[in-house]
Amino acid sequence: MLVLGIETSCDETSVALVREGREILSNIILSQLEHVKFGGVVPEVASREHLRAIIPVYDEAFKQAGVDLEEVDLVAATMGPGLVGPLLVGLTFAKGLAYSRSIPFVAVNHMEGHLAANILEHPELEENHLTLIVSGGHTMLVEVKKFGEYELLGQTKDDAAGEAFDKVAKIMGLGYPGGVQIDRLAREGDPKFLKLPRPMIRDDSFQFSYSGLKTAVMMQIKKMTAGEFEQHRADIAASFQEAAVDVLVEKTIRAARMKKTRDLTISGGVAANSRLREVMQRKCDQANRRLFYPSLPLCTDNAAMIAAAGYYQFKNDGPSELTANAIPYLKLV
Ligand code: KG4
Ligand code: ZN
Repeated sequence: MLVLGIETSCDETSVALVREGREILSNIILSQLEHVKFGGVVPEVASREHLRAIIPVYDEAFKQAGVDLEEVDLVAATMGPGLVGPLLVGLTFAKGLAYSRSIPFVAVNHMEGHLAANILEHPELEENHLTLIVSGGHTMLVEVKKFGEYELLGQTKDDAAGEAFDKVAKIMGLGYPGGVQIDRLAREGDPKFLKLPRPMIRDDSFQFSYSGLKTAVMMQIKKMTAGEFEQHRADIAASFQEAAVDVLVEKTIRAARMKKTRDLTISGGVAANSRLREVMQRKCDQANRRLFYPSLPLCTDNAAMIAAAGYYQFKNDGPSELTANAIPYLKLV
């Protein structure tokens, strides 16, 4: 089955062609640069950029894959969560295409897409596994019983992990998006330079909180002179990153023990973080767990993961109605 995936929930316009939920023929991702000067995603600008980009990105996906629309068996598009304007561009485009060509259509949950990135890339991953989804909008620990059946163990009470990376990067003048800049800078820094809290690390819940950590970094920077700040930029980035990663790893390993799941995955933009991958791998080895994470292009928003999720959804539940609408706060469970 050849699936055409379309993803426009935030600031990436992406179109992919994926065979049997596993073989990526193309996965074109256009990251909108227009938001850099604003220091964050401007929803109205994002909607317009998706409108401008969707057809060229679609054409490129077919060109790279070397297939025709006639060969497509299923159209899958993100319906939420995300920004309503951007979501509507991809969803409406997908529905129009499906209707005009009588191709079945599925409306996909973006978070299910993120977790499907691991299913796509790791055939050996057990169906029942634990996943940590960490992106710019979400921080969730979920037990996947099987594809489509989930138990939400916990999520953030305030900021998402990626949001905290972006906000700390902004405070430090590193530009947007900031997560990858912190990751890069932190490699030369001392993670013990700042004493920072590990919010909620010891409590019994699987909830997270990141807004206090961001404020703690801000307060400590305020106490520094400009010279001290300049001298210790890498140390500040490393200290923040270490605190953020410690909480994610500790809670994920504890949840895996409680749920007795052998396989663990991380997904979403923050799963690209080199320190998170490193520490999670070490702790998984110690706890006798197998860790899987997507390759870098499949961590941040992309349409291949939407095509993969759409493929499994269609196999389990059949097509969606063409009346399916964009749902900005769509839940996974
Ligand atoms: O999954 P994603 O592309 O979009 C959402 O669904 O939100 O995730 C984007 C988030 C941003 O907050 C970005 O700063 C963060 O992922 N991110 C990273 C890294 N690469 C992207 N955070 C930490 N380290 C990275 N290497
Ligand atoms: Zn995402």
